[in-house]
Amino acid sequence: MNNTSHQQYEKARKRIHQKKRFYVHFILFIIGASILFGLTLIKGFNISNSPIYIYILIVIWFVLLLLHFIKAFITTKFFDDEWERIQTQKLLQKHDEKIVKLEKKLQKEGVLPTPTSQKKKGFFAQFKKDQKVTLIAALGTNNELGKDNDLIWHLPKDLKRFKSLTTGHHIIMGRKTFESIGKPLPNRTTVIITRDVNYKFEGCLVANSLEQALDLAKKDETPFIIGGAQIYNQALKTATNLEITYVHHEFEADVFFPKIDLTIWEETARELHKADEKHAYDYSFVSYKRK
Ligand SMILES: NC(=O)c1ccc[n+]([C@@H]2O[C@H](COP(=O)([O-])OP(=O)(O)OC[C@H]3O[C@@H](n4cnc5c(N)ncnc54)[C@H](OP(=O)(O)O)[C@@H]3O)[C@@H](O)[C@H]2O)c1
Repeated sequence: MNNTSHQQYEKARKRIHQKKRFYVHFILFIIGASILFGLTLIKGFNISNSPIYIYILIVIWFVLLLLHFIKAFITTKFFDDEWERIQTQKLLQKHDEKIVKLEKKLQKEGVLPTPTSQKKKGFFAQFKKDQKVTLIAALGTNNELGKDNDLIWHLPKDLKRFKSLTTGHHIIMGRKTFESIGKPLPNRTTVIITRDVNYKFEGCLVANSLEQALDLAKKDETPFIIGGAQIYNQALKTATNLEITYVHHEFEADVFFPKIDLTIWEETARELHKADEKHAYDYSFVSYKRK
């Protein structure tokens, strides 16, 4: 089963569970309300003298049932995880756009220096045609990337692949990802992206924008962009290749990879690996290139 079908299967399974819970609730309500109503009809029975509380109880239960119906059939259908993720991404994008505008304004006013890369027209157009700007990431079933500024799985074969692909190359990352790793990785040129113009770390290059980072790596035939979510979101528009590890499991996460649009990306290789004693989940290595 490929990743998309797996996601669809998981969504369908969740929806069925939600609907099932609602139907059980509905049957319980019919039985419960009938019994309660029946009690009010038994002559001489204590409750039948003042049935108003029973009616209030039935109405409250009915309202709860109605709320359950709205949750099962309306809220989760239209405002699901995907909807939340898209809204978060839109917000982040707006936030980034505001910062870019502000940076430009400050550069015009001379408060911030103009990065050399922005002086050139059409920065991305100047990449050598054969340069592969590659995004490399590992994602859960719902595009989960990490939680609390850390990874959420340990897959030694994925780390091995990451090492073999990136060794000898520039690895470009956001400041938060760098701080979660804690040090420059050996045999690679680490480029950290931060808005902090005073940021320094021994053995690393520092850039104040994605464009600057790519400028620093322009002599590398295959620079790798290794995360995290903020940087993937910005770089997906310009990358030429993707190396994705799909971990076939759902995780709790607070950062997500953007949706991979298959009208833009063509899958060129796929390798499925089954879980074993060292790998808790099935996972697939998938390569894409821009169409
Ligand atoms: N599963 C995977 O393959 C994978 C890979 C990498 C990371 N991760 C996970 O992703 C999470 C971290 O991702 P994240 O999105 O929170 O942070 P991130 O993308 O690693 O770093 C964000 C930081 O990058 C800087 N930045 C972003 N856009 C910029 C721009 N346009 N110009 C200048 N600087 C910019 C800012 O640094 P300043 O605040 O210093 O200005 C920002 O706070 C962690 O949980 C990590 O474990 C997962």
